[in-house]
Amino acid sequence: MMARAALLPVALLLCLALAGGANAARKSTAGFYELKNKKGDFSIKVTNWGAALVSAIVPDGKGNLADVVLGYDTVAEYANGSASFGATVGRVANRIANARFVLDGKTYHLLRNDGNNTIHGGPKGFGKVIWTVKEHVSHGDSPYITFYYHSLDGEQGFPGALDVYVKYQLSRPYDLSIRMNVTARNKATPVNLANHAYWNLAGHGSGDVLKHELQMFASHYTPVDGSMIPTGEVAPVAGTMYDFGRRIPVGTNMKIVPGGGGGYDMNYAVDGQHGQQNAMRPVARVRDPKSGRAFELWANQPGVQFYTASWLINEKGKAGKVYGQYGALCLETQAYPDAVNHPNFPSSIVRPGQVYKHDMVFRFSYQATYDA
Ligand SMILES: *[C@@H]1O[C@H](CO)[C@@H](O)[C@H](O)[C@H]1NC(C)=O
Ligand SMILES: *[C@@H]1O[C@H](CO)[C@@H](O)[C@H](O)[C@H]1NC(C)=O
Ligand SMILES: *[C@@H]1O[C@H](CO)[C@@H](O)[C@H](O)[C@H]1NC(C)=O
Repeated sequence: MMARAALLPVALLLCLALAGGANAARKSTAGFYELKNKKGDFSIKVTNWGAALVSAIVPDGKGNLADVVLGYDTVAEYANGSASFGATVGRVANRIANARFVLDGKTYHLLRNDGNNTIHGGPKGFGKVIWTVKEHVSHGDSPYITFYYHSLDGEQGFPGALDVYVKYQLSRPYDLSIRMNVTARNKATPVNLANHAYWNLAGHGSGDVLKHELQMFASHYTPVDGSMIPTGEVAPVAGTMYDFGRRIPVGTNMKIVPGGGGGYDMNYAVDGQHGQQNAMRPVARVRDPKSGRAFELWANQPGVQFYTASWLINEKGKAGKVYGQYGALCLETQAYPDAVNHPNFPSSIVRPGQVYKHDMVFRFSYQATYDA
């Protein structure tokens, strides 16, 4: 499989006249970019369409490489898709109730794209725009790529201009870090970026992930109402179907999980002190028992949305693969959903001159190194 990865065009350029809006004139092309380690057994592809993770190729204990991220082959499919495959979603990832919020006494109305709610920053959020490639070092010990996006004051209804950076980097032995920062230029605004990668450690398109084993370092979660909006409660997971405190198969309680079309779509409160958003902490461990591939996720965010791809129905993906329900899991580190409307949740407000920083690292391995 290594030869095939090497043959992939590094930048498959595509003119996107459909980008529209004020940003289109400045940045009108989107393409694919690769990062690869020296040994050649660890690589990713990304696209500046939505600053998205397109693939992640990692080995198992026998040296078999697999692409463990769901995605598409072309930018046109990313532009048309609704699953946010691998995207950097924002300006506010997840849901904002009734597409409105009040900040410093002013009411802001957003665009509804999830029933009455706004999801992932609106219909043309950060996952649906073209980013500028600032730096790209494709090979070596720690290859990286940095994407930049300038979000305008009023974009999708949000206040204030933003400078947004997302840097993907590989480091030894098999670490993928994603570092995001946002500077608010002139107005206070909610900010909540998330990476929306869909993981399947047996390989994308290889079936469901119900036998993947999951442990989460989150002893609480934020229960939701019928429209997936948090009630405001921060409840213990102990004794509920949301309890992944001990490593168990993802599908263990799947049949009794309500909402979201069956399956999980829930924000967990990551253990650790609130208000210390810069402290990296363990979030989750995932392992595919069949291949032995695993990753441990660390991040500096208060929450993580655990989603089991319940809404994937025969989605045509990369290399002719077809993705079905539970064909992947997402662990999207972020602020709590609808934090802007819940004063008791950790604040998601960034004020002018302040910098939002969101760091995460996926530490891949191919052995169970975490047996309790
Ligand atoms: C666009 O998305 C729709 C809905 O998911 C799908 O049916 C259609 O095949 C897609 N078109 C292209 C060109 O990918
Ligand atoms: C949207 O809000 C209106 C008014 O509260 C309500 O009648 C309607 O059922 C809501 N729609 C959805 C999809 O939740
Ligand atoms: C944001 O990230 C970019 C790219 O890594 C970096 O050059 C810049 O210094 C960062 N900005 C802040 C304020 O940390």
